[in-house]
Amino acid sequence: MTVRPILSIGHPTLRVRATEVTREDIATPAIQGLIDDLIDTMRHANGSGIAANQIGEPVRIMVMEVDRNPRYPYKPPIPLTVAVNPRFEPLDDETVTINEGCLSVPLRGELVRSVNLRVSYTDRHGAYHERFLRGLTAGTYQHECDHLDGVLVVDRIDSRTLSTWEQFDRYHRDAFVRRITKFVAEVGS
Ligand code: NI
Repeated sequence: MTVRPILSIGHPTLRVRATEVTREDIATPAIQGLIDDLIDTMRHANGSGIAANQIGEPVRIMVMEVDRNPRYPYKPPIPLTVAVNPRFEPLDDETVTINEGCLSVPLRGELVRSVNLRVSYTDRHGAYHERFLRGLTAGTYQHECDHLDGVLVVDRIDSRTLSTWEQFDRYHRDAFVRRITKFVAEVGS
C-alpha cells in the first residue's frame, strides 16, 4: 500500500492506450499491489477516481470512490469500485455539461458526458459485473475510461471554459454547483 506520484499532463504514459489485464493476471501480487496503490493514491489526493496510467502503469484498471469529497463536494457518494477492463455504452442520447477536473491536469472546465450508461468490468476478485450508472457517477466512470484510452479532459473541454481551480472558485463555482446540485437531485446520482 503506497501513495504513488501522479503523472501530470505532458507525460507520455497519459497518452498511451492501456493494455487489457488477463483473467489470470488479476490475482497476481503485482496487479493486486497496483490496485492497492491506486486506492491509496486516489484517497491521498482526494480524487473521485484514478486510472492506472496516471501512476505510470498503462494497464486497464481504474478505481472510483466518493465519500464527502472535499475536492468535489457536490458529487454524490460512490462506493469503492475497482474496475478491471472497464467498458461502457450510453443507453440513450441524454447528456449533461459537467465542469470537470483531473488529478493529472491543473485546470478544469466544461465538457459533455452521457447521463445513462450500461457498464461492465471485472472486479479485483475476478468477478464480472454488469450495471447501470447515471448522472455524475456515470461521468466519473467515463472520465476514468478515457484515461485508459489515453484521452484527457482537455481533449473534451470547451477551451473557452478552461479555468484554474482558483479562478473557478472565484467566478464559476457557485453557478455550477447550483446547476449540478439540481441535476443530481433529479437523476439521483
Ligand atoms: Ni483524471
